[in-house]
Amino acid sequence: MSEGFSADWLRRREPFDALARAPHLAERLSAALPQRPRLLELGAGAGSLFRWLAPRIGRAQAWTMLDADETLLAYGFERTAEWAERQGWKVTAPSGALLVHAPGGAWRIEARVADFGDSPDDLPLEGHDAVVCSALMDLVSPAWSRRLAARLAVPFLACLTVDGRDRFIPGHPDDALIRRGFARHMRSDKGFGPAMGQAAPAMLARILAEEGFSVATAASDWLVPRVATALLAEMVEGHAGAAADALPASASRISAWRTARLEAVAAGRLSLVIGHRDLLALPDKE
Ligand SMILES: C[S@@+](CC[C@H](N)C(=O)[O-])C[C@H]1O[C@@H](n2cnc3c(N)ncnc32)[C@H](O)[C@@H]1O
Repeated sequence: MSEGFSADWLRRREPFDALARAPHLAERLSAALPQRPRLLELGAGAGSLFRWLAPRIGRAQAWTMLDADETLLAYGFERTAEWAERQGWKVTAPSGALLVHAPGGAWRIEARVADFGDSPDDLPLEGHDAVVCSALMDLVSPAWSRRLAARLAVPFLACLTVDGRDRFIPGHPDDALIRRGFARHMRSDKGFGPAMGQAAPAMLARILAEEGFSVATAASDWLVPRVATALLAEMVEGHAGAAADALPASASRISAWRTARLEAVAAGRLSLVIGHRDLLALPDKE
């Protein structure tokens, strides 16, 4: 795995992720699943997708979460246990798993450390009724996606894949430069081969349709308001850092953009839209 994702970053983005994901695609997924579905989550991180999707499925369910980062998975168990207890639900931990005793039935989570960057060929797809992920598919390569799609025989929900429709508000003359550098950086290898980056939503939809899936997509943009100064500052730093890596010849313009944008964040004058799409692919035979 070449990219590290901090627990703080995943925690800060969780409320924006939750507001952005497309609930109607989750409902369609839930309707396509058996009575007690078994879900495989790829790149689960700290479990943000579980806390959003499990209540929408509602009934008894079992999740297998895979991630290369053991610390994030452990932190995710803690967060999920605290979150469930805040809802008034009992939580137990039978033999390494986490069991949330929700009103509609028990939700069982098992977490496994796995680096699946080289290939999706060893993913334990068998024995699962759906494969799900969030904020992952822009990191993977077209070849990796094609191999996954060729193996998939169950519904696939991919949430929050970036699509490049980013907009800092108000605009700045060098926004286009930053966007170009950021987009180029997103296509670099994140441990899965050259990443699809912002082309991922369209590429993924095509790849899955070619494998015979019915594909539906929906916008799931982040709307980051002026008051969310910590996340905005992090996004400015992230965009400037990525653009500087990708366009070293423009370092001084990028640095000036960074300074101006951080000043605007501190003054409560900047807001941000980050374009994402959610995708649901259902096997036609369903
Ligand atoms: C952007 S984070 C998203 C995490 C989580 N799905 C969420 O939405 O909060 C990407 C996740 O993919 C995991 N990841 C990245 N490369 C990986 C690899 N090669 N194998 C397994 N997991 C990987 C990271 O550890 C991280 O948890």
